[in-house]
Formats: sequence, structure tokens, C-alpha cells
Amino acid sequence: MSVGVGVIGTGVMGSEHARLLARQIPGAHLAGVFDADTARARVAAAGTLVFSDPQSLIKSDRVGAVIIASPDATHAELALACLAAGKPVLCEKPLASSTAEALRVVQAEVALKRRLIQVGYMRRFDPGYQEMKRIKDEGAVGATVLLHNQHRNAQAPDWFTGPMAVTNSFVHEIDISRWLTGSEMVSAHVTSGPGGDPLMITMRTDRDEIVSTEVYMNASYGYHVHAELVGRQGTVALAPTSLTMRNKDNLGGVSYPDNWVPRFADAYRRQLTDWIDGVTTRTPVGASAWDGYVASSIAEQVAAVLAGSGSAELIRTPRPSLYD
Ligand SMILES: NC(=O)c1ccc[n+]([C@@H]2O[C@H](COP(=O)([O-])OP(=O)(O)OC[C@H]3O[C@@H](n4cnc5c(N)ncnc54)[C@H](O)[C@@H]3O)[C@@H](O)[C@H]2O)c1
Repeated sequence: MSVGVGVIGTGVMGSEHARLLARQIPGAHLAGVFDADTARARVAAAGTLVFSDPQSLIKSDRVGAVIIASPDATHAELALACLAAGKPVLCEKPLASSTAEALRVVQAEVALKRRLIQVGYMRRFDPGYQEMKRIKDEGAVGATVLLHNQHRNAQAPDWFTGPMAVTNSFVHEIDISRWLTGSEMVSAHVTSGPGGDPLMITMRTDRDEIVSTEVYMNASYGYHVHAELVGRQGTVALAPTSLTMRNKDNLGGVSYPDNWVPRFADAYRRQLTDWIDGVTTRTPVGASAWDGYVASSIAEQVAAVLAGSGSAELIRTPRPSLYD
């Protein structure tokens, strides 16, 4: 039977999820949407239901699973409401806008004794990152010593304020670095560029690997995410994802998209497909609420470093057995 999915928040990400659900995801259909902006919700609903509030969407019999794509500050309360209703949820990253809120979500899921939450760290579904992980896990480049990440945006969105380069963008690198290396981060050092952009964040793992990340929110030339894993016997890196190479005006090279939607189009689609498979078979996939909590906790500690001294030993919490 097809899973009816309700989407909360129909801005850039929510509309993309709704569009994919309406057309391309086997075993699922768009059941309805809610957005604080009703006109925007109507467009994304594409003829399905427009709910008048998020609670009625979550409780609706037509909604078997929920996507949360509203602003970061709303995620934790909505995820808790989904848990209370026993509905599986794909919550856009970050899981919450503070470590304390993220922990409340984890504790509620642990009390339920059932994993219902997947966090939208979609890079885990990107074919390039998956190939990197396969090569690394097969031992083809030897033991990992270093992972370089680059996260460059053409221009920071208007709503980017304060430490959001860390709590909203760098969280992707935290998650993908934990997933690629299979290691936990134990310390972080942050160097801030002129005016606070770019940032260079260097972390050390519990296997003594180095994870370096450049986060550059206003790189102007386009959206460009890159990663190279360095091993004892070789390296593996993401290849350019541009479909063509252009020569013009004495220059040649690849093209970059304006933002993440075209760059990770495949990852978003595969994430939704695998999430729906997981919902149907009750087999959780992707980043768990625990992974979401760890990413938010590290981000909050890195943001505190940014405001203070430069380095920190990262505080880690024992993982509940639900996430083994
Ligand atoms: N996984 C990714 O690659 C990725 C990329 C971008 C954004 N995100 C995440 O997705 C979420 C949405 O980001 P976006 O870029 O789509 O933002 P956006 O501003 O384009 O859309 C947010 C939408 O939420 C609506 N909204 C505001 N308050 C609301 C509320 N209380 N309840 C319901 N709707 C409300 C707004 O009207 C707007 O339509 C953010 O949490 C962001 O971190 C994830």
C-alpha cells in the first residue's frame, strides 16, 4: 500500500520533497502539506490537502509518515509530536537548534523503544560519497589518516545569522565525516577568516585521524562541495559532478550549480526512496536521531569555540543501545 506523506514547510527543501513525492518515489504519495505561508503551501500541495496547522497534519489518518522541512527552530517540537503520534519522520537537518532539544528528541525515541526518526543528512545517499565509502571500507587506500572537506556556497541565504555557518552548514560535514571514517570526533580547532567567513575547522578523531573542513558561505563562484580522503596507501576524492566541460574565452572547465538542490538532486531522490522502503519494512536507514544529536552537539561546541578561545576537547555522551 502506498504511504501517504505529509510535508511541513514548503520552502526550497519542502517543495522539492513534495515534488519528488508527487512524481518519482515508488510506494509513496504526497498526502498534504502545511506551511505558515498558505499561498506557498497551496502551490506545493499540487491539488492535495493543505492543512491548517502542523498538528492536524501529523494526526491525520491520511498521513502515514511526515517530512519536516520548516526552519531549524521548529524541528524538535515537530519531531516530538510525530513520535507521540507514532509516525515515522524524515526531519531535515539539523535535528534541533540546540543540543538540549536534540537530546529531548533522542530520549523520547529511546522511551518509545522504536526508531522512527531519520535526519535529512542526504549526502549519505549521494553516489559519489557512497563510492568513496565503499573504496575506503574495502581498504583500497589503506588506513585513513586525513579527510579534507570543502563546503562552499555562492552566497549565504538572507536568514543565515550568527553561528549558522556551523550549526546549519558545517553539520553536514560532521555527519559525513563520522559516516565516512566510522570514527568519533574528539577535539576541534577553529580558525576564522576575515569577517568570520571562511572558517577552517580541524577535528581529530578517536582513531587519531585529522578531519579538516573549510566552510565558505560567500565563495561567489557557485555551490561547490568536495571531499578527499587520504589513506596510508592512496587517496580517494569526489570527482566533479558537472555533466559537461566547457571551453570559452581562453578558459576551460566544469560548471557549478547555484545551490545544493541540483548538486544533490540524486541524493535527495535516493534518500526519499530508501526512507519510504525503510518505513514500509520498518527497517531504519540513513542518519538516526542519535546521529542528528551528535552533529548538533559537536556544532554547538564548535560554535562556542568560535566565540572563544580556538580549541576544545569535545564532550561526548554514551550512545543508547537503541542506536547500536
Ligand atoms: N538537507 C539539505 O541539504 C538542506 C538544504 C537546505 C536546507 N535544509 C534544511 O531544510 C529546512 C528548510 O530550509 P529551506 O531552505 O527550505 O528554507 P525556506 O526558507 O526556503 O523554507 C522554509 C519554509 O518554512 C515555512 N515556515 C516558517 N515557519 C514555519 C512553521 N512554524 N511551520 C511550518 N512552516 C513554517 C516558511 O514559510 C517557508 O516556506 C531547514 O531546516 C534547513 O536547515 C536542508
